Amino acid sequence: MANQEKLRYENVGITGANGHIGTVLREGLQDLYKIKSFTLEATSFPSVVLDLSDEDRIKGSFLGLDAVIHLAADVNPNSSWESISNNNIEATYQVFEECRRSGVKRIVFASTNHVMHGNTILTTPETLDATKKNLMKLTDPSNPDSLYAISKLFGENLGKLYSQQYGLEFVGLRIGWTIPEDDPSVKRGISAEDYIRAMFLSKRDCVQAFRCALEVPTQFVLGYAISNNDRKVFDLNETRQNLGYNPQDNAENYFK
Ligand SMILES: NC(=O)c1ccc[n+]([C@@H]2O[C@H](COP(=O)([O-])OP(=O)(O)OC[C@H]3O[C@@H](n4cnc5c(N)ncnc54)[C@H](O)[C@@H]3O)[C@@H](O)[C@H]2O)c1
Repeated sequence: MANQEKLRYENVGITGANGHIGTVLREGLQDLYKIKSFTLEATSFPSVVLDLSDEDRIKGSFLGLDAVIHLAADVNPNSSWESISNNNIEATYQVFEECRRSGVKRIVFASTNHVMHGNTILTTPETLDATKKNLMKLTDPSNPDSLYAISKLFGENLGKLYSQQYGLEFVGLRIGWTIPEDDPSVKRGISAEDYIRAMFLSKRDCVQAFRCALEVPTQFVLGYAISNNDRKVFDLNETRQNLGYNPQDNAENYFK
């Protein structure tokens, strides 16, 4: 999409804006959108500081926004129910409610590859066996590996409910793995190597995926946000078609 094309939504909120992906998106989208950042703690850049699970504090904070990219979460797949229920379930519900109250038109929700892994992710994930050429589709039954993954399915399903009941547009991105180094070969020789060769999402593909998610005409859609990895285990065809996402990078190029 060319920069001069008219944007569907101009005023975009980003929760968890000081996190890893929040930083990638603030930098990657700042020339295109008017971004309003939300963080849990004070930051060196302007942000609204609040715990999103606090119903009283969040009220009114999304007024004037067209779209919200909801990244904030406890991102540890091994986290306790106490943390997941507060930071992922309650906070996500409050974000949806504030979007509804404030007339936000679209939520882009950071879901995860973990919704498809089942109990294999912590060992040698059968799901990551590239030789099987068994590409998982978006219509395949979910297979969460953790309370964290279940909290992301909660967000996806909340998206379905709010899109049907309140007309809120929803895009859920099942993100692979994007890392600060932006180079998957830093995992060479360790147990996470197979994982990142399948799930790598480069920073520029990440920015593109979220840009597509902000701009695609839709009421509800899910997508897999990974780079075009030779060893991918997710079928990108539906995501390419539904979101117009065209990833440029491939983890294998870093392992040559
Ligand atoms: N990084 C990845 O590769 C990856 C993969 C799959 C999914 N995701 C999802 O993408 C999103 C962003 O991931 P990240 O890697 O940037 O994580 P991160 O941990 O760097 O950032 C998450 C941010 O959320 C904030 N936060 C947590 N609870 C909050 C609350 N109650 N109120 C307000 N803010 C709160 C934290 O302070 C933090 O800044 C997460 O939802 C994560 O589940 C990331």
